[in-house]
Amino acid sequence: MVIELVVGAFWAMLPAYVPNNAAVLAGGGAPIDGGRTWGSSRVLGDGKTWRGTLVGTLVGFALAFVCNAAAGSVEAALGIGLPRFSVLGAFGLAFGAMLGDIGASFLKRRTGRERGAAFPGLDQLDFVVGALALAALLDFAWFRGTFTLPVLAVVLVLTPILHVGTNIAAYYLGLKNEPW
Ligand code: CTP
Ligand code: MG
Repeated sequence: MVIELVVGAFWAMLPAYVPNNAAVLAGGGAPIDGGRTWGSSRVLGDGKTWRGTLVGTLVGFALAFVCNAAAGSVEAALGIGLPRFSVLGAFGLAFGAMLGDIGASFLKRRTGRERGAAFPGLDQLDFVVGALALAALLDFAWFRGTFTLPVLAVVLVLTPILHVGTNIAAYYLGLKNEPW
């Protein structure tokens, strides 16, 4: 059933979707790169902070267990099956999403893009690749059972759409400086 596939894929990615948004709300304080530069640019920039990364990871990780607790009732209400999160899978999704985003900033600085500059494609998928890779690395059995090929296909299509939408919303709400 298509609805079950799409809702299940969205559900499975929630611990990876939320960290970046939590980091926007929690960001500030000391940058991870400590202000250091590599060549003529910052290593990561002021947009990647310890606080944003820590809070983002914790919020995403905690959300996985809220989802696990709510899954039974949501399944009954919607009449569909939903995935459950393992501890390592949840941590991999949340922290991996943050690492993917940090890796993208590293690439942006190396390619001469200032903080906040857009890098179409990378901006929408960096955290997905990071989240899926770290989850697979930390708990491959769980990952393989949860992210089947149809689920992965939906994730790759759905995520850029959701990412563009939420960032435009965050921009108009005054939470982000740029709409990407
Ligand atoms: N943020 C943070 N720590 C992170 C990720 C994000 O503190 N690991 C916060 C920062 O305040 C950042 C905001 O969330 O400015 C928006 O995140 P993002 O768009 O990823 O950063 P940018 O400021 O656009 O910087 P970059 O060009 O490096 O992506
Ligand atoms: Mg940005």
